[in-house]
Amino acid sequence: MVKIGIIGCGGMGRYHANILKKFQDVEIVSASDVNTEVLNSFKNEFEVKETYTDYKDMLEKSDINAIICATPTHLHYKIVTFAAKAKKHIFCEKPIALNLKQAEKMIDLCEKNNAILQIGYVRRFDQEWLKFKELMDKRIIGRPVIWHQIWGGNGPSAEWYYDIKKGMGPFVDGAVHSYDFAIFTFGKVKKVKSSLTKFKNFSSPDTGTTIVEFESGDMLVLCWSWGLPKNVSSQYLHQALGPEGVLVFGGFQDEKGKYFVVRKEVGEEKIGPIPLNSLGIGFERQIEHFIDCVKNNKKPVVSGIDGYESLKVGLDVLKSWK
Ligand SMILES: NC(=O)c1ccc[n+]([C@@H]2O[C@H](COP(=O)([O-])OP(=O)(O)OC[C@H]3O[C@@H](n4cnc5c(N)ncnc54)[C@H](O)[C@@H]3O)[C@@H](O)[C@H]2O)c1
Repeated sequence: MVKIGIIGCGGMGRYHANILKKFQDVEIVSASDVNTEVLNSFKNEFEVKETYTDYKDMLEKSDINAIICATPTHLHYKIVTFAAKAKKHIFCEKPIALNLKQAEKMIDLCEKNNAILQIGYVRRFDQEWLKFKELMDKRIIGRPVIWHQIWGGNGPSAEWYYDIKKGMGPFVDGAVHSYDFAIFTFGKVKKVKSSLTKFKNFSSPDTGTTIVEFESGDMLVLCWSWGLPKNVSSQYLHQALGPEGVLVFGGFQDEKGKYFVVRKEVGEEKIGPIPLNSLGIGFERQIEHFIDCVKNNKKPVVSGIDGYESLKVGLDVLKSWK
């Protein structure tokens, strides 16, 4: 039996708990949150035996093998280092931390204490994005490519997400998924540029464009906003431009699933279907992978080092804005 403690019982803590309760060989033994109302409702919903308002008490007293850290980002460092010293395996939501020094220390302490550290890069388990990597590896439109991502909305409601000292805004918090996946697909980063602004009145930029150049010659160009009015969203688009054609995804679907469209001189090809809920399935696979790593003492496919590398891009994006 894998015995889990959840730290942070808000949006993601609950989301992961709903996945964990489907496993027969997993028990959510304990939960911690500073908000007692949230903690009590989590206890009732998931029938958790033990609850703690202080995660340190939980890590010292509760008989668990592993934790899920799903608190606001600025707390990941303190919680993960404490959990590593308590020799617990750790699934930590992204971004790994607020700065590279913290990320380094987290990785180091987990290694020293033989604690698994998996970072919540769910796109690594999403069939749609994995298909994108497969098509890039096959050079379906040639290489190098420019991967455009366009997305805009009102962003998360919790204010900590926009605080530069807590969540760091969309160009770190949300975009780290893309930085990580682009590193996974294209390799080493060469240069980062950004042109960002604020539509909302918080300390982090919420709108703009970033360009990440890779040593391979490939590029990621991200045009994002969390600054649009409530209930307003922009077009959602992923496309890659390559020397032999264009690949578009994120916009084509029917009742069977989602499709990639590849346009070349010779004509157009549709690739798919990929399950409509590939991201939801990805969240399940991600947790399944973590449990497998804990049970069988395996190294996770998404490590603390991946958390470090993608955070570095996010921090360089903010530096380039400043
Ligand atoms: N992988 C993804 O796709 C994805 C999606 C959304 C959020 N996230 C990440 O997940 C993390 C949590 O985000 P969220 O949206 O669930 O946040 P949230 O604000 O909904 O929930 C955070 C919870 O942590 C609790 N908390 C605060 N301080 C605490 C402490 N010291 N000890 C224990 N609990 C404490 C809060 O009371 C709250 O209930 C963030 O790092 C975020 O970036 C990841």
